[in-house]
This record gives sequence, C-alpha cells and structure tokens, in this order.
Amino acid sequence: MPMIDLRSDTVTRPTPEMRRAMAEAEVGDDVFGEDPTVNALEERAAELLGKEAGLFVASGSMGNLVSQLAHLSRGQETIAGGNSHMVVHEAAGHAVIVGTSVRQLPERPDGTLDLGEVAEAFRDPNDPHNPISGLVEIENTHADSMAQPLSPDYTASIAAVAHEHGVPLHVDGARFFNAVVALGVDPQALAGPADSVSFCLSKGLSCPVGSVVVGTREFIWRARRGRKLVGGGMRQAGVLAAPGLLALRDGALGMIERLAEDHANARRLAEGLADLDGIESAGGIAQPAPGRLDPARATTNFVLFKVHRDGTDFLGALRARGVLMIEYPHNQIRAVTHYGITPADVDSAVAATRRALEDTASRAPAMSRVAAG
Ligand SMILES: Cc1ncc(COP(=O)(O)O)c(C=O)c1O
Repeated sequence: MPMIDLRSDTVTRPTPEMRRAMAEAEVGDDVFGEDPTVNALEERAAELLGKEAGLFVASGSMGNLVSQLAHLSRGQETIAGGNSHMVVHEAAGHAVIVGTSVRQLPERPDGTLDLGEVAEAFRDPNDPHNPISGLVEIENTHADSMAQPLSPDYTASIAAVAHEHGVPLHVDGARFFNAVVALGVDPQALAGPADSVSFCLSKGLSCPVGSVVVGTREFIWRARRGRKLVGGGMRQAGVLAAPGLLALRDGALGMIERLAEDHANARRLAEGLADLDGIESAGGIAQPAPGRLDPARATTNFVLFKVHRDGTDFLGALRARGVLMIEYPHNQIRAVTHYGITPADVDSAVAATRRALEDTASRAPAMSRVAAG
C-alpha cells in the first residue's frame, strides 16, 4: 500500500500531461530572454494577476528574496508578521543577502496584522538611529494560522497603510490561488492592491519546480537583476516552465479550480479528526483555550491540531499505519491535502490517526503539559 502523504502540498508530482509538456517544451536561453516557454509563462502569470510583467524563479523563497532585493536597499526594514515564512523559514535571506531587518508583528488568528500596529511600526525617517521602513509584507494564505485566506479588502487596507507611508506591499502568495478559490474572488482583485506578488507553482498547482513573481515592468527588471545576483538565472528553463503554463490554464483544464477539492478534503479531514479522543484544537497561531478542533477553521488545504501525545511518538505510530503528517510550530501537527489525495484517503487517514492515538495512549504525557504548549 502506498503511503498517504499529508506532510505538504510540495510532495505533489507532475501530471502525465505536464511530463509530456516538459519533454516537448520549446526552449531557448532564458538569461538572454529567449526561452519562449518561460516568456509565455511569465506573460500568462502577469495577465492572470493583472500586473505588467512576471519573472519565473526557482522557488517561493527565491521569489520573496528577489522581491526584497528589488524593493529594498541595505539598512532598510520590512514590516511583517513574526510567524511568516519570509521571516522564519528562509534562512534569514533578508539579513544575509538583502541586508535588511524585519520589524515583526504578531499575526491574529485569522492570519491578518492589525492595521493600527502596522501604521505604528513605521520608523521615524528623521531619526538617524532608526532603520528606514521600506516594505510591508503579508502572506496569503497565511500558513501558521492554518492557512487562512486573506481577503481583497484586507489586502487593500494594508496596501493603503503601506502607500500612505510611501512603501510598497509585497504578498508572499505561495498559496495565492488557494486563497482565490477559497474566497471565490478574481485573482486580479486579490493581487490588485499589492505592488508585487510571488506565487508557487510547485505546491497545490502540482508543478515540479518554481514560482512566479509579478509586478510592474520596472520592478520585474530589478527582480530579474536580483535573480541573477543570487545565481537564479537559468538557461533552457522552458522544460521547467511548461508545467506552469498548463497549471495556469482557465477552468477545468488548469490546476487552479481543482484546489477546491483539496479544500473540501481538508474540511473532511478536520471533521473526522475533531471527533477523535486525544485530538484537540490548535488551528494555528494565537490559539485561545484548548478545546475541540474546529473544522470551520479548515478553509483552505491545511489542518493543524494538537495531540495529547508526544508529537514524534505519535507521528511514528501514524507512519507505521501508512500515513505521513509533520510536526509544526507551536506543538502542532500539520496535515495538508493536495493533488492525488482523495476523500477515501482522507477517511483512511482519520482511521489511521485513531489507531495511532490508541497505539501511543499508554505513553501519553500528562494532559496539562501538552495543552500548555
Ligand atoms: C508561505 C510560504 N512562503 C514561501 C515558501 C517557500 O517556498 P519554497 O519551498 O518553494 O522555497 C513556502 C514553502 O513552503 C511557504 O509555505
């Protein structure tokens, strides 16, 4: 029996159609701007999000990195959520490569930042002691809040605060299209208020590699230069871009609409887990009192929960039952639904979780220790 792998949507494999498109892709030297498949992908991404231009990059981390290189100069500061991927999970690229600091704000349980706190976080540009505020960054969907989608209205409000202070807004939209589908909004409406958006092809859209950054032509020129600086200028990259072009097609031909299946599966998983003894609410950051896992918080493709067990022990027992999940910050377990996971897999994962909880019950730590985490 193959494992049911719910660790991340990054484990998705390219579809057979994607593999064929890779084999047949027209290619050229992309550093010379001559790869027709990369060019078509960049144009398609820009068109879809209503921006002037796009840039194909190797990963979501590189998308955020080149966006920062394009928006910021050394000694500047970004205002961002303290749990965001760009701050916590990108090897401090902002400091090491961009030469900037981050003013970290607490995110709320719905993944948003408080607008007043963002406004307050800007430094005094007349004080020579201060870094110079240069960018506001948000993450959509916001992973650590159980991948809550952030709305166009919220994005517009935060962009307004950034723009009032003369700085751009960057959206780390690693799962931008999950937000689009969950909210039922037009991608252009969600991207519109932002100055730049980076989205991943290699997650729920099932492509093997890559992300695309979009923004103005001028911004993309600077991001392209940043990409070269970090060694991300690829040559016949059309073989990697070809699956992206398929994924971004309209309607059922592409991979965007399909994300709704992942969201339904995540809700189904949360509903199944919520009824199990030994599982409790986590649902991401800033959790209030422990309680029952609330399936209504599964709005996109993440389920976060706590177990009344040692996390590693539980995950080992779950693996032995044929299901993979992963430890997540704040003593949580994460399960992510994605292409290839069916409702039947979800039901099997719930059953395996029940058994793994039984298998590890005798070794469970005291409830209070786990609940306090
Ligand atoms: C919110 C978010 N941003 C950025 C990234 C970075 O993507 P990559 O792993 O392609 O560098 C991830 C990866 O999981 C992510 O979850």
